[in-house]
Amino acid sequence: MSASRPIDAAFFDDLFGAYERSPAIRALMRSALDERLPVEVEPYSFVTMNALEAIAQQLRLSTDALLVDLACGRGGPGMWITRATGARLIGVDFSAVAVTQARARIAAFRLQDRAEFRIGELHATGLTDAQADALLCVDSVQFAGDPRLVAQEAARVLRPGGSLVFTGWEPRETGDHRLPECFVNLDFGGLLRTAGFDEVAVTHRPDLQRRQQAVFRRALATDPGRDRAMTQLRAEAVRMLPLMPLLRRVHITAVRARR
Ligand SMILES: C[S@@+](CC[C@H](N)C(=O)[O-])C[C@H]1O[C@@H](n2cnc3c(N)ncnc32)[C@H](O)[C@@H]1O
Repeated sequence: MSASRPIDAAFFDDLFGAYERSPAIRALMRSALDERLPVEVEPYSFVTMNALEAIAQQLRLSTDALLVDLACGRGGPGMWITRATGARLIGVDFSAVAVTQARARIAAFRLQDRAEFRIGELHATGLTDAQADALLCVDSVQFAGDPRLVAQEAARVLRPGGSLVFTGWEPRETGDHRLPECFVNLDFGGLLRTAGFDEVAVTHRPDLQRRQQAVFRRALATDPGRDRAMTQLRAEAVRMLPLMPLLRRVHITAVRARR
């Protein structure tokens, strides 16, 4: 969610490299998040099966519609939804390691010819105007230097009437400077309305927040040994667990304005 060193592509390259070498962290995340998650999903985020099923419905994807997964990481959540709906997928992430891992995982979802992954930025995807029928961004908007630019990019690449789902965290109290800067004034509803979205709905998900806290507690109870991914997760848990009561886990849906 946040870290003390610069959160750039090299930071995530390092995290994803360590994650792939650690079966222990993948098992811990799945068992603490949700045993119902198919093993191949391997989210690098805090989603459950119930959340994925809800998102798949909210994206209103029909067969062959194009889903864009912004900041897709290793691609699991977007590929699960693509497989479940019969859609097509373009995943975009600035970590070359994540994109390489996502490409290598396409076959595990049997999405050859339906999924592709590209290097790009949250605010500059390289996609063309109105290319996407639906757009997803799981637990990543807070990494953008300016989240307004992410909302504008989402509005640009989504066709009018296309659906958007973001997941993330908002401050319980706007302007709470005990939080990392990226959360202090984060207001998804305001961002999306200003960028040209209608039907914006922000739902609180305390159930998902409890799952996230369970992941952090499980990590802290685990001896990391020489596992770097586990060491990194434990460091995040130390930093973020005390801040969780100041944050609200949110799930946002919106529709690109038709006018
Ligand atoms: C918490 S992970 C979520 C990954 C994925 N959505 C998932 O659920 O497994 C955050 C992702 O955001 C990506 N990211 C962070 N800042 C970015 C930026 N400015 N442009 C593109 N991707 C970015 C990271 O590389 C990482 O894959």
